[in-house]
Amino acid sequence: MEGKVRQWQTSGEVKDAHGRVLRDLRISVIDRCNYRCPYCMPAEIYGESFEWLPRQHWLTPGEIKRVAGLFTQLGVNKLRITGGEPLLRRDIVEIVAGLSAIPGIDDVALTTNGTLLAERAAQLKEAGLKRITVSLDSMDETVFSAMSGDRGELGSVLRGIEAAKAAGLTPIKINVVVQRGKNDHTVLDLLEHFRGTGVIVRFIEYMDVGTLNGWSLDEVVSSKQLVELISSRWALEPLERNYRGEVAQRYGFVDGQGEVGFISSVSEPFCGDCHRGRLSADGTIYTCLFATQGTPLRELLRSGASDADIVGLLQNVWRNRTDRYSELRGRATKRETISKVEMYRMGG
Ligand code: GTP
Ligand code: 5AD
Ligand code: SF4
Ligand code: SF4
Repeated sequence: MEGKVRQWQTSGEVKDAHGRVLRDLRISVIDRCNYRCPYCMPAEIYGESFEWLPRQHWLTPGEIKRVAGLFTQLGVNKLRITGGEPLLRRDIVEIVAGLSAIPGIDDVALTTNGTLLAERAAQLKEAGLKRITVSLDSMDETVFSAMSGDRGELGSVLRGIEAAKAAGLTPIKINVVVQRGKNDHTVLDLLEHFRGTGVIVRFIEYMDVGTLNGWSLDEVVSSKQLVELISSRWALEPLERNYRGEVAQRYGFVDGQGEVGFISSVSEPFCGDCHRGRLSADGTIYTCLFATQGTPLRELLRSGASDADIVGLLQNVWRNRTDRYSELRGRATKRETISKVEMYRMGG
């Protein structure tokens, strides 16, 4: 009982307009990427002349640590580092070390496309990273290459996954965005490869993030359809969620060969339990993956604002939060024309 009271007093929990607390901060450390996945950063738009964030706008490792530390005062205990491709930042190990040292943070994970993972895995583990999620859309080299905008090389990603395993960055999860007509025919091969290895594959419904990927509902393969497809090959049984608000619905292979996850943001939105905030590489706070605007922090950080000032601002932002985009999108079949911030910029 006493422990419970103490926890309540120190968590500094703040509720948003729908009564949701903040638990999870997703930190994008860079907007650039060495891939051009058509569902995220189509190559015809993000060419050589595309204007990325200027480097001086990237938060430094010290600034990132400070902001994440202040977020713990609002109840955050879980961090995920994203991009763009976070391993393109040369100071990524320093960033991880800073975040892992924050009191009150129980979990620091990182999402990567895996190309640079083999050379970094051991250092990241040593710096305190707990686990890794690798985006990998197909085990078919041609399909994989197309899904990466002809930038990726499958072998290097598989070497990265092996290195992460050897370093103990586990449980390793694989994120697969499924796009109808592009990679949906290779779903079973992916599971064939990873079943029984301890690596958890999760299928993500193709989402209408940003404004540039030309999303349409026709290209979404629903989780229900995937569960049916997979069940025709291997028997599945639903598993309990690991924690409240977990985005993936978990299923176990009945033959004991591990689990598979489904992230159904389009067919079964999970805004009701959404306790995720986002910090972009240039120090902007977003309260939804589909936000059209955020709250800039960088200038404040660089002009001597006190911790109390910043915590006060963050509390206000969270209290005023009304977002539930995926629920409101409802049955829309074409992308919205509102100017949403792109996913590589705010972090996945
Ligand atoms: P775990 O801590 O391992 O459970 O991670 P996670 O479930 O947060 O998974 P991850 O960070 O890998 O997110 C997987 C994918 O789910 C992301 O890349 C997004 O595509 C999607 N996703 C994550 N958070 C949200 C969210 O708040 N809203 C929506 N619509 N999609 C999300
Ligand atoms: N729909 C679903 N998931 C996406 N991701 C990027 N763009 C989309 C999209 N349009 C996922 C990537 C990666 C994570 C950072 O976000 O696959 O796993
Ligand atoms: Fe890069 Fe990830 Fe976007 Fe693909 S989905 S372009 S790997 S940030
Ligand atoms: Fe949360 Fe926005 Fe995603 Fe809904 S759409 S789950 S509110 S990030």
